[in-house]
Amino acid sequence: MVSISRRMSDLEESPTLAVTAKAKELKKRGYDIIGFAAGEPDYDTPDNIKKAAIRAIEEGHTKYTPVGGIVELKDAVIEKFKGDNGLDYSREEVLISCGGKHSIFNLCQALLDPGDEVVIPVPYWVSYPPMVRLAGGVPVFVHTDETTGFKMSAEAFRDAVTGRTKAVIINTPSNPTGAAYSKGELEAIAAVALEKGVFIISDEIYEKLYYGDEPANSIASVSREVKENTMVLNGVSKAYSMTGWRIGYAAGPKELIKAMMRIQSQSTSNPASISQWAAVEALRGPQDAVAEMAAEFKERCRMMVEGLNAIEGLSCLMPQGAFYTFANVSAFYGRSFGDRVIEDSVGLATYLLEEAEVAVVPGIAFGNDSHIRLSYACSKEDIGVGLDRMKKALGALA
Ligand SMILES: Cc1ncc(COP(=O)(O)O)c(C=O)c1O
Repeated sequence: MVSISRRMSDLEESPTLAVTAKAKELKKRGYDIIGFAAGEPDYDTPDNIKKAAIRAIEEGHTKYTPVGGIVELKDAVIEKFKGDNGLDYSREEVLISCGGKHSIFNLCQALLDPGDEVVIPVPYWVSYPPMVRLAGGVPVFVHTDETTGFKMSAEAFRDAVTGRTKAVIINTPSNPTGAAYSKGELEAIAAVALEKGVFIISDEIYEKLYYGDEPANSIASVSREVKENTMVLNGVSKAYSMTGWRIGYAAGPKELIKAMMRIQSQSTSNPASISQWAAVEALRGPQDAVAEMAAEFKERCRMMVEGLNAIEGLSCLMPQGAFYTFANVSAFYGRSFGDRVIEDSVGLATYLLEEAEVAVVPGIAFGNDSHIRLSYACSKEDIGVGLDRMKKALGALA
């Protein structure tokens, strides 16, 4: 029998994808499942972007491109950083990859040596720990909860730093909590990173889905010194409903970008040429669709949070961005339905899927077992129906 590499021994399949798959399977079998598990906007890719892709095919942009992306897209990314974040990057400081996930993977491979520690605030996006581990790194978790709005304080970060700390991952707005760091909070974290010589990885993929009054903050904007010590990761997947097109981008120190590009050159080569031209249109074309989607998400967010907090025993903070809510369900642990005792977030998510036909993601997938993640990337009608079903099912637990 073939033996699988040791590297794979603790690499799990993404648990969020597993739950979504189970919900899809039940739906296919005729169950009327309300999906609160989605990790992508429920909007179609805007027409102007689709048309740009069709044009790219017709104009023959169907061959290899430079490994790190076409200059037109790099320039569009540079303009985005200048316009949105006041950041100046050159083409050598930008890399286009096959989705935001690929950008982070390349970065971990290019940055980490075996034993290097990476500080990761909990709850975290599911893929950070496996990607760090695959590169030989060691995730160091900093737990956060409602008392700090699910954000890591500069003090907690400082306490987690050791002689082996190489990097810290900041994800704002966050998946799964929707929490967003303020400028002051980012300044304080950046100060500790500079003082301790820790590299900053800033995942800003939900930047455009932010409901605060001012634009979302990028830690790289704190100062020139911080920018030089930071890799900003972003992409078109969430902002432009382009999850299937697979375009992400990274901006940071050019030696690191060059190393990430070398990895890309020996693995995927360039991201799809057609998708790159579509992403140029996404970044440079009209932005109304983004604003519209963000406004709609803001309304749904309020509806979801109010509905969740109206369920006895459940509590949920108001997120500031992305399209997720992270609800505390620990009050239901120890309660039962017939023979079934709810013991943890997987038990609760399974109960909701089977008894209420509502799909949610167990918090343990994000390193937090007292919560569940509910996405509002679905219609308002579904939010209403799903909340009603949850209320009934949770109320039936004794
Ligand atoms: C926090 C975070 N970062 C990065 C990504 C990667 O996005 P993609 O690879 O689809 O561009 C996701 C997608 O779910 C995410 O939630």
